[in-house]
Amino acid sequence: MDTILVTGGCGFIGSNFIRYVLKNTNNYRIVNVDKLTYAGNLKNLAGLKGDPRYCFYKGDICNYELLSFIIEKENVTSIINFAAESHVDRSILSPQEFIRTNVIGTDVLLEITRRFGLKKFIQISTDEVYGSLEQTGKFIESTPLSPNSPYSASKASADLLVRAYNHTYNLPTIITRCSNNYGPYQFPEKLIPLMIINAINEKPLPVYGDGMNIRDWIYVEDHCAAILAIYEEGKIGEVYNIGAENEMPNIEIVKLILKELGKNESLITFVKDRPGHDRRYAIDATKIKTELGWKPRYEFKEALKKTINWYIENQTWWQEIISGEYKKYYKKWYEER
Ligand code: NAD
Ligand code: DAU
Repeated sequence: MDTILVTGGCGFIGSNFIRYVLKNTNNYRIVNVDKLTYAGNLKNLAGLKGDPRYCFYKGDICNYELLSFIIEKENVTSIINFAAESHVDRSILSPQEFIRTNVIGTDVLLEITRRFGLKKFIQISTDEVYGSLEQTGKFIESTPLSPNSPYSASKASADLLVRAYNHTYNLPTIITRCSNNYGPYQFPEKLIPLMIINAINEKPLPVYGDGMNIRDWIYVEDHCAAILAIYEEGKIGEVYNIGAENEMPNIEIVKLILKELGKNESLITFVKDRPGHDRRYAIDATKIKTELGWKPRYEFKEALKKTINWYIENQTWWQEIISGEYKKYYKKWYEER
């Protein structure tokens, strides 16, 4: 049985991925290393308690000694790196932690992969490394990197390190670049969960700028299936885009959420735009579809409903977060006076 070290497994996508792998296969043990930042939550994986195929270590991916200890103790054979500071707005207000975790942390994991001769290193990157598109065209894997925010610059830096370790040391690496995810357990600072929760609570829904920025949305389970396919069948040294061909302006999503919850559009509040706000993302996922036979299973409107229902049915999960301390540490630019 392969033992995969999953980093950042207590976050949104990492926790969905661990659940997906353990539910759909019996081929892997998962060792989850997570620092439990404001975005990491042990409750995201509470259902796995007692599963012998899963174990958890609280730890920082920048800690080389701790990771070396875990690799040896748990006989780890490969790494999938989800751990990151992931929120663009926070990176604009305070970039340092993004550089530390996303760049230095990735470098530590690459060094670990090299030292222990691991079988595979998968870097979970993002479509944001490509920058912003005009009204037409899509990102392909060879689109030049052109990151615009401190977050995307830190992710692009990590991608370049992964590429360099593959080229220089022949390290068995693969990079994945996915579009915007939505689904259960997403931290309520990101567009979809924030808007659902504010709508439920009848609070203003803060839409940046004119609301016409376009993102390309994928249900998190489709992303998880793609990562597993890449882990199992992907070609070493390659980059794979992941997306579900679902471009949508932010304002349309916000209106769909209000409609589904039976709330009034008067809750929509246009606020000062995000500095450097990328206008449009769109992913061309032809490569993973043709080479690995992956395709998305979920249709956007149905999966958005499923997501809204999850937030309705799991209010304790998000109530604990929004009534907690996390907001104290940052104040958005549009709230500044
Ligand atoms: P998230 O913020 O929900 O989770 C990040 C997790 O990493 C948290 O559990 C946190 O505690 C952990 N972490 C942070 N710093 C750490 C450190 N130094 N050491 C160990 N653990 C640490 O993020 P997410 O949305 O689940 O994103 C996961 C990955 O997917 C990220 O690498 C992100 O760049 C990438 N990605 C996200 C999206 C998206 O739409 N959310 C899309 C494409 C790619
Ligand atoms: O594209 C992949 C990326 O998607 C990931 O790499 C990031 O980790 C993830 O956070 C996400 O980045 P975005 O910046 O696109 O996601 P966010 O949910 O923060 O914003 C989505 C869009 O909604 C964006 O155009 C900004 C807008 N927005 C966001 C918030 C939080 C608003 O209008 N109002 C808001 O309150």
